[in-house]
Amino acid sequence: MPPESANAGRVLQGKRREAARARLDALWQRGRTLLGTRYAILGGAMSWVSERHLVAAISNAGGFGVLACGSLQPPQLAAEIAGVRALTDQPFGVNLIVMHPELEALTRLCLDQGVSHIVFAGGLPSAPVLRTVREGGAKVLCFAPTPTLAKRLVRNGVDALIIEGAEAGGHIGPVSTSVLAQEILPQVREVPVFVAGGIGRGEAMALYLLMGASGCQLGTRFVCAHESIAHPRFKRAFIRATARDAVVSTQIDPDLPVIPVRALANAGTQQFMEVQRDVAARYRKQELTQQEAQLEIELFWAGALRRAVIEGDVEAGSVMAGQSVGMVTAEQSTAEIIDELVEQAIDALAEHDSSGPVSP
Ligand SMILES: Cc1cc2nc3c(=O)[nH]c(=O)nc-3n(C[C@H](O)[C@H](O)[C@H](O)COP(=O)(O)O)c2cc1C
Repeated sequence: MPPESANAGRVLQGKRREAARARLDALWQRGRTLLGTRYAILGGAMSWVSERHLVAAISNAGGFGVLACGSLQPPQLAAEIAGVRALTDQPFGVNLIVMHPELEALTRLCLDQGVSHIVFAGGLPSAPVLRTVREGGAKVLCFAPTPTLAKRLVRNGVDALIIEGAEAGGHIGPVSTSVLAQEILPQVREVPVFVAGGIGRGEAMALYLLMGASGCQLGTRFVCAHESIAHPRFKRAFIRATARDAVVSTQIDPDLPVIPVRALANAGTQQFMEVQRDVAARYRKQELTQQEAQLEIELFWAGALRRAVIEGDVEAGSVMAGQSVGMVTAEQSTAEIIDELVEQAIDALAEHDSSGPVSP
């Protein structure tokens, strides 16, 4: 190729990338406005992993960090919120688990501390809780597991929805991200919808944005960020694993619904079966109510996850990870991860520009 046409090719490619960057900004503008961020990328809350350092790093890199409350008590959450604020002046959110026995106190604490966005997980918050948050001036994001529940949540006044498919790490629903996206994105236009589960690269983000999403949430991809406090053994397990290693726990008692959890298979996966058997037996003998039984199981997960993330016990602990773990191949800075995702999304949009593929 003569030098002048190589140069013209580079100019064309540059123009196309510029147009794709503007397109990306437009595609996720609603998400960016809701979150108050440069990019509509949420760092999904991960119990024990999403503490002050990772949350602040994601927000400082232009994304939206979400602090995981998990099983923390109000004073510990207050300290983490203050910790994030000491590291960033950018927007961030707090993730609260609906079945936490202190949900009301935690919600009130977030409002008193001026938290701008609360993400409710692990169930649907009651109408009074939603009202309290809205009256307190914070925005509410909820997970929508089905189109019907998505519409109900919109009617109840949530500010945004997250749809999370079964590819995700941690507690999951039964339906894949791609199916949820096709079912829910065309039907919910009233509020921004963020897509989560199985997203490891920017091309996938671009795809969901083209389908009508306002942004994406990723968890697994951020575990091995330099700023993540996850134990080096936890990070090594992620870097070694392939998509197939991230398997789903099974429910053994049909009368005791247990939310499936996706994690790297290890001895802890087996131990969970024993714990489940024990809790189910006590539930059947009516020594525990269903709610108590489910709470006990959730506390098992919280403890096992802590052992793996903080103490590095990746054999007996729970190494929760999504299928996108296969795309985690090295430790990187949070800013590098976010920049890589954004550049991949721009490349994908440039490639699919109506004027056809860019010539080499
Ligand atoms: C180790 C781990 C812990 C998690 N803990 C929580 C949690 O406490 N609350 C929550 O809403 N989601 C939790 N998640 C889900 C993430 O917030 C996010 O939605 C999910 O990781 C997205 O899918 P991906 O893993 O394929 O990126 C967790 C995920 C992982 C991998």
